[in-house]
Amino acid sequence: MNAAPAPRSETEASGQHDGGYTGPARHVAIIMDGNGRWAKKRLLPRAVGHKRGVDAVREVVRAARHMGLEALTLYAFSSENWKRPEDEISDLMGLLRAFIRSDIDEFAANDVRLKIIGNYKVLPADIVAMIEDALARTAHNSRTTLAVALNYGSQQEIARAAAAAAAKGEVTVATIEAELDTADMPPLDLLIRTSGEVRLSNFLLWQAAYAEMWFTDVLWPDFTPGHLREALDHYATRERRYGGR
Ligand code: IPE
Ligand code: IPE
Ligand code: MG
Repeated sequence: MNAAPAPRSETEASGQHDGGYTGPARHVAIIMDGNGRWAKKRLLPRAVGHKRGVDAVREVVRAARHMGLEALTLYAFSSENWKRPEDEISDLMGLLRAFIRSDIDEFAANDVRLKIIGNYKVLPADIVAMIEDALARTAHNSRTTLAVALNYGSQQEIARAAAAAAAKGEVTVATIEAELDTADMPPLDLLIRTSGEVRLSNFLLWQAAYAEMWFTDVLWPDFTPGHLREALDHYATRERRYGGR
């Protein structure tokens, strides 16, 4: 039998490391879940939970910037969330409009680059226009990338990336990765999900291959910069091995 050494792993080509000491996290992603349950506990309409969720987003983005994260990816609306009742979808779109309107100046002024992952072009036309304006206004910022996942589904992203790689020639880990929505971002270090659910719900399936995971029972509207700090402190204690030893 041919005892050739293991080939240089494809993941090395994809920017992942050999493991060992965990440096500071560069890229954190959050599945912001539990708005509905937060509202239900208080006998409030779900829309109030979503609104308080937006307030939590604002604080967490500020904190990510202050903590020196290079990238923060937030799951705001999945490709499966279209299954929700029309009035809830409409509340969420309204909040998205209001958020872009109220917060884009702060991003622009604080060196935050906005990025969207997922197919946002099918959102209502006025939101698409607002997003494109916000993307253009923050395109040259470089301190922190805020990637918002809108109409995002990871399986769809991977299928599209594989097809794009095939159209250009070779299909490999590296060529697929180069076509993902996250291609220009640092590798995912830490994935957080709030609300006690322990599943990925079609979020960053590829990117999470060697990410650390942090699941908390805290409902998203109650999530504070202190919780982010806690997750990052936990992250700092992890030894990442990437299959090595
Ligand atoms: C997360 O909160 C927000 C979105 C998915 C848009 P949910 O609305 O899923 O809240 P729960 O899971 O019902 O509590
Ligand atoms: C995931 O939460 C999507 C977002 C947070 C935007 P969901 O509430 O949609 O996930 P499931 O349905 O509980 O898996
Ligand atoms: Mg949910």
